[in-house]
Amino acid sequence: MNSVYQPLFHSITLRSGVEVKNRMVMAPMTNFSSHDDGTVSDDEVAYYARRSGGVGMVITACANVTENGKGFHGEFGAHRDEMIPSLRRLAQAIQAKGAKAVLQIFHGGRSCPPELVPNGDVVSASAVANEAAGAVVPRALEDAEIRDIVTAFGEATRRAIEAGYDGVEIHGANGYLIQQFFSPHSNRRTDEWGGSLEKRMAFPLAIVDEVTRVVREHANRPFLVGYRFSPEEPTTPGITMDDTLALVDKLADQPLDYLHVSLMDFWSKPHTGADTSQTRLALIQRQVGERVPLIGVGSIHTPDEARAALETGVPLIALGRELIMEPDWVAKVEQGRTSEIRTTLSKNDRETLVIPEPLWQAIINTPGWFPVV
Ligand SMILES: Cc1cc2nc3c(=O)[nH]c(=O)nc-3n(C[C@H](O)[C@H](O)[C@H](O)COP(=O)(O)O)c2cc1C
Repeated sequence: MNSVYQPLFHSITLRSGVEVKNRMVMAPMTNFSSHDDGTVSDDEVAYYARRSGGVGMVITACANVTENGKGFHGEFGAHRDEMIPSLRRLAQAIQAKGAKAVLQIFHGGRSCPPELVPNGDVVSASAVANEAAGAVVPRALEDAEIRDIVTAFGEATRRAIEAGYDGVEIHGANGYLIQQFFSPHSNRRTDEWGGSLEKRMAFPLAIVDEVTRVVREHANRPFLVGYRFSPEEPTTPGITMDDTLALVDKLADQPLDYLHVSLMDFWSKPHTGADTSQTRLALIQRQVGERVPLIGVGSIHTPDEARAALETGVPLIALGRELIMEPDWVAKVEQGRTSEIRTTLSKNDRETLVIPEPLWQAIINTPGWFPVV
């Protein structure tokens, strides 16, 4: 291996005691390939096994914590104890290849397709639809239902512990329920769950409290808890960079193993507020300081890009689409074969790359998502 890439291979021990063998993480990516009953499929397990051989940690696709939180067709669930064997199968496939297995847990809120939730009863913080054409107007959750969902995040965590995962990532990003509570666009409540910036943080922080409580109570080995967030929303009102800096400041004082920003471009800068001359990641890194490690992500394809990202001081780098296109990314860096790293996808690659058919269809039918040649 070229020694300039050595820093990518330094191990890191997280707060919980989980040791991650290197700095590369597989980003959470929904693959639309689970069975309708919410159990993982053989194709999906094979897809993960193919990509778990080099990275230090694999964060799974998001798994719903309640029946009414299912956000995608072909998503696997963590909402009932009967799901534990399915969850275990996936954890074992990842760990057998040497990576830590982290289950991403979430509730889709107003983004759930009505046909996937019982009685089409789509719920959110408030009865406000997102701005997409034809978006469903959700029903505002009652206080007791909010508390049940907080508990459900804890129950999904207990299942992840029982299924043998190394941790869970709380999915507070990409416009789903946790973000819907933090956003002034989707949260118009006037009770303790909304109204001010502080109160919009109440739901995310209640989930962090419950998940970390369950870990203390149930895990008898190191078990990590991470938190993912999206830094800005394009809508007005919407989450601003300043809101996010306030949130991460609070999160950095919780017993979390890492914070994970969700971005399509690692080097992107804030739209408004904050300091628009710096990257979002630099601002977030400065806010959290040494309190908690950060995972950076977004359009990192080559090892030189990963090295440059790490040199900014962000200690962990996630690769998403790149690992779909190149499952051997880490091995090729280690073996000095960096010129062989694929950064495009050929229409003939599906089987060689072990990509399940539903994910493949999504990739080739979504213009601009992947560089398909
Ligand atoms: C097919 C696909 C599915 C995704 N599903 C999820 C998901 O389930 N949870 C999540 O937090 N982010 C999800 N993302 C976002 C990625 O984790 C990542 O932030 C994004 O792809 C940018 O990183 P990249 O440029 O390395 O792909 C998904 C992205 C893709 C391409």
